[in-house]
Amino acid sequence: MSEPPAGNGTPLGNGTLLGPRFAELVSIHQLRLLIAVVENGGFSRAADALGLSQPAISHQLKALSTAVGMPVIEIIGRRVQLTQAGNLLYVHAQRIVADFEAAGTVLDEFRGLRRGRIRIAGDTTVAIYVLPDLLGDFRQEHPDVELSLGVDNRRGLYDRLVANDVDFIVSGRLWLDTSVPLIARPFLGNELIAIASPRHHLAGRRRVTLAELAREPFIIREPGSGTRETTEEALQEAGVSYSPLMELASNGAIKRAVARDLGVSILSRYATSLELELGNLVELPVEGFPLRRQWHLFYPRDRRLGPVEEAFLRFVEDGRWKDRLGRPTTTD
Ligand code: PGA
Repeated sequence: MSEPPAGNGTPLGNGTLLGPRFAELVSIHQLRLLIAVVENGGFSRAADALGLSQPAISHQLKALSTAVGMPVIEIIGRRVQLTQAGNLLYVHAQRIVADFEAAGTVLDEFRGLRRGRIRIAGDTTVAIYVLPDLLGDFRQEHPDVELSLGVDNRRGLYDRLVANDVDFIVSGRLWLDTSVPLIARPFLGNELIAIASPRHHLAGRRRVTLAELAREPFIIREPGSGTRETTEEALQEAGVSYSPLMELASNGAIKRAVARDLGVSILSRYATSLELELGNLVELPVEGFPLRRQWHLFYPRDRRLGPVEEAFLRFVEDGRWKDRLGRPTTTD
C-alpha cells in the first residue's frame, strides 16, 4: 500500500487517502447508478428504470467501490443498502448529479435560444433612433435572451468591442487597419436631410440650393459625429463655405434649437421623423439631398459566435425589422 500524500485527501476506512485520484477514478455515470439503485430499492428496478442490464449496473458499482477503496453498498438479506462510506458519498452524489444535469439543461436552453445575451452599442444616432426598435423586435422572437444597449462615440465603441464589453457595435464609418480585425456587415442606410422650423423663410420653397442653406444660421453636430462629417464633405464638395452658429453634441438639442427658429441643420431622417410628422420641423428640398450614409454592424473576426449571436445576425440580415422603423417614439 502506498504512503498517503501528506495533507491532501480524506482518510477513509483503511487509511489510504483518495486525494485528487478520486475525481479520476469515479465517474458521473457511476454516481447516477448509485443514486438509481438507492432510489429504486435494488439493482433490477434500477436496471429497468435506466434501461440497462443488471450486470452492467453491478459491474459499475463494483468499480465505484474499488475507486472509493471501500464498499459503497451491501446486501443484507435481499435488501440493497448503503454502507457508511456509501452514505457519505451518496449525499454529495445527489448534488453532483443534479448540478451536472442542470449544466446540461442550461446548455440546451442556450442552444435552443432560451438563454443567452446580446450586448450591442452604437453611434449616437443609431443607438437612440434605430437600435431600440431592432432590439424590441428581436425580443418578440426571443423573449428569454437578455439584451443590453450602449451609446458611445466611435473610439469608445471600438474599445468596448475589443474589451469584450459588447458583442456587436453599429457605426456609420468603416474601421480600416484595426489592431483587432473586424467583420463589417452592412446594417442600414442612413439619409441625412436638411431641416428648418415651419416658420423659416425657406420652408415651403420648392427648391433650395446648398449654398442658400449654408448662408443660414447653421447648427451642426460636434466633431467626430458621422452626421457632421458627411455634412462637411457635402459642403466642401459643392465648394460652399459656412460658419456654424452653434455646435451641439445632441440630435435632440439641435432639433429643439431649429424648432425654436435658431437656425437650420442637417440630421438623420431617423432622428427627425417624429418632429416632421408632428409638424414641429420641416424638411427643406435641398438640391442633391438626401445625403447618404451607411451604418455597419461590426464584430471581431475571430469571435466564435454562439447560437444566440448567430440568431441575432440572421435576424439583422433578414431585415424585416426595418419595415417597422421610421416611427420613432422619442424626440431626444
Ligand atoms: P452620429 O452618427 O450620431 O455620430 O452622427 C451617425 C452616423 O455615423 O451616420
